[in-house]
Amino acid sequence: MSSSSNSPIVCNLPRVTIVGAGRVGSTLAQRIAEKNLADVVLLDIIAGMPQGLALDLMEARGIEIHNRQIIGTNNYADTSGSQIVVITAGLPRKPGMSRDDLLKTNAKIVVEAAKNAIAHSPNAIFIVVTNPLDVMTYLAWQATGLPRDRIMGMAGVLDSARFETFIALELGVLPADVKAMVLGSHGDLMVPLSRYATVNGIPITELLDAATIERLVERTRNGGAEIVELMQTGGAFFAPASATSVMVESILLNQSRLLPVAAYLQGEYGLEDVVIGVPCRLGCGGIESVLELTLSDEERKGLHTSAQSVRQNIERSQEILANKNNP
Ligand code: LAC
Repeated sequence: MSSSSNSPIVCNLPRVTIVGAGRVGSTLAQRIAEKNLADVVLLDIIAGMPQGLALDLMEARGIEIHNRQIIGTNNYADTSGSQIVVITAGLPRKPGMSRDDLLKTNAKIVVEAAKNAIAHSPNAIFIVVTNPLDVMTYLAWQATGLPRDRIMGMAGVLDSARFETFIALELGVLPADVKAMVLGSHGDLMVPLSRYATVNGIPITELLDAATIERLVERTRNGGAEIVELMQTGGAFFAPASATSVMVESILLNQSRLLPVAAYLQGEYGLEDVVIGVPCRLGCGGIESVLELTLSDEERKGLHTSAQSVRQNIERSQEILANKNNP
């Protein structure tokens, strides 16, 4: 084949780095590549593992009909120039553990990953997925020094998708016709906003009684643990990867979708210097705006209780990180 011009053709395809090639990270790599969103760099500390996964994904390209590159590496230099960095590195929960039990192990892993990644992609937008989600997002914000519009955590999209699923199952309707918003921390204190949940615009309060809605809310709060208990080894990864890919997509394609995102708050909802799930508009600049909804007294109290628990864990994490002797 010949080219009509002598000047080289330079195609700057977007590049997304995923730190942590576990089940969430590798499934996310698959989603991003197969949705044709970006080339993917999959990084892990385990030698050979991300390389093997990348090769496997590359070998599926002809069947899935896309031409995205997937690179597996153990070296942060290979991640340079990424538009988005997703941090999934860290240990998952075991049965009986809460997300907060992971604080000690995952704090150092996330801080190191964030520092290494920002050094090679100073213009990237960061999405944190590692648990305990809200605290890890705060630590990554601290470690990178990024403005708050360029760093966020994935949890609300997943929690909302779970709530939507349970509503759809209860009513026997298409899950995509159900829209819900879950705010607050990614944990037992999350705040599902039942009165804003609808089936194609019809409030679920018109379709379900209060006791049923409360049962679905409880199942949503327990959504991650329900899967950990069933699997016994590790936790959910298909829905977490889908939820993260929606955020990646909204940023890369500048879709300005309104999604619940763990964001660093600066006075919104009466909260400051804490990361918590709130509705945000996501576009090519990252968090374009934070929407401040009018909350009922109970919802506001729920959000503040949730923020208080995140704050306590942020303080614990600062002690852990400051203690150099901590293994
Ligand atoms: C869950 C994990 C990702 O909720 O926190 O399944």
